[in-house]
Amino acid sequence: MSEEDAGGTPAWTREHASSLRRDESNVAPIIYPPEERIDDDLHIWDTWFLRNRDGTIAEIDGYRVIFSLTSPSHLLPGKRHDVATIRYFYSHDGENWTTGGTVFDGGALGQRQWAGSAMYDPDGDEGEIYFYYTAAGEDGAEELTYTQRLALATGGTVNTDSGFEIDGPWDHQVLLTPDGDWYEREDQSRGMIYTFRDPWFFEDPESGETYLLFEANTPVPEGTGACDDPVWEEFNGSIGIAHSPTGDPTDFELRPPLLDAVCVNQELERPHLVVRDGTYYLFISSHVHTFAPELEGYDALYGFVADDLRGEYEPLNGHGMVLTNPANAPFQAYSWLVYDHGDELLASSFFNYFDYNRPNLDDVSLLPEDEQMRRFGGTLAPTVRLGLDGTETNVIDTLGHGHLPLSSEALPKSWWENESSEGGDGYY
Ligand code: FRU
Repeated sequence: MSEEDAGGTPAWTREHASSLRRDESNVAPIIYPPEERIDDDLHIWDTWFLRNRDGTIAEIDGYRVIFSLTSPSHLLPGKRHDVATIRYFYSHDGENWTTGGTVFDGGALGQRQWAGSAMYDPDGDEGEIYFYYTAAGEDGAEELTYTQRLALATGGTVNTDSGFEIDGPWDHQVLLTPDGDWYEREDQSRGMIYTFRDPWFFEDPESGETYLLFEANTPVPEGTGACDDPVWEEFNGSIGIAHSPTGDPTDFELRPPLLDAVCVNQELERPHLVVRDGTYYLFISSHVHTFAPELEGYDALYGFVADDLRGEYEPLNGHGMVLTNPANAPFQAYSWLVYDHGDELLASSFFNYFDYNRPNLDDVSLLPEDEQMRRFGGTLAPTVRLGLDGTETNVIDTLGHGHLPLSSEALPKSWWENESSEGGDGYY
């Protein structure tokens, strides 16, 4: 038996999740609309950097690049997932972003494309950009469907001759579909929208091995008594992983999940890792409404820590919550991505619904349409600076909306540093 099959899947348990609560270490400051959005014509949500193979942020002739799910901003925000299109934005300073355009000009798989990751390898065998994405919906189907497959586009190149451009042509292929054993297929799903999405490229700095992480669900057949209450069984989120035996970034095999949350939570979204000094920090986003009954969760960034890629992940801070929205603006941000910055972690996210504090996001549709539009941020949120000490995290401060510094760029003094240098009279 291989090492990864030897034990059970590490679990985020109901016991862990039952102690979830807001406290001063995990609540982000309230977000106000920015003076300028990145692009007034677009709703912008899930976002990721173009990264080098080793996970560092790519800088190409002075440009850094982000990719986002986007839709026209005249659409009702709740409709945006149905027409999601991936666009790129570039910047010289990590603060001011210019819209580059759509990444694919037709040809992408699925009825629409959901989140993923992008790896830049100027020496790659198949173009410079390896673009992993979720092919959502069945190609060619008339109705909108919720099939999800992990897809890869290769062949993209970067052109900086006059400005910044990403060019095709791209070749698209399906990389992975759920096997029904480790990873639930759509037809096995017992209730809520199932998940098999959000591929995230990862090269393990300790072993040099190549992986894809993704969001999935663990099959829980009826009658197996997996949870004390059968109602909880449809809450079966997992963090999936696939391995490339040769290191070829176009060729992956499914492996057993890194972690799951059976009886606890149905969606462990956009999984990604930060590795610091041989310690593995695994992050996901999740929603209040995807926690199983009798658990009180939050729209929040959650994290787990292990001393090995396939280690015994334990929730950070005991319960798992790292960063959430304030009680009076519980849906102001979502879809966090964490990256390392010196002693700190930076968490990017998008500005979701503000001035809105009903119990969950489903109630957005009860608002008049003009209010749904007014209360949706639709651009990047302020980046949150997080401290990390062993298994504990804390919110330090925030940067501006969509300010995404490279690790070589110094961060401004945080408010508490200002406070001590000014003799105790800081701006709080
Ligand atoms: C998280 C998410 C992703 C998915 C995308 C679709 O915000 O649910 O898992 O790829 O939104 O819009």
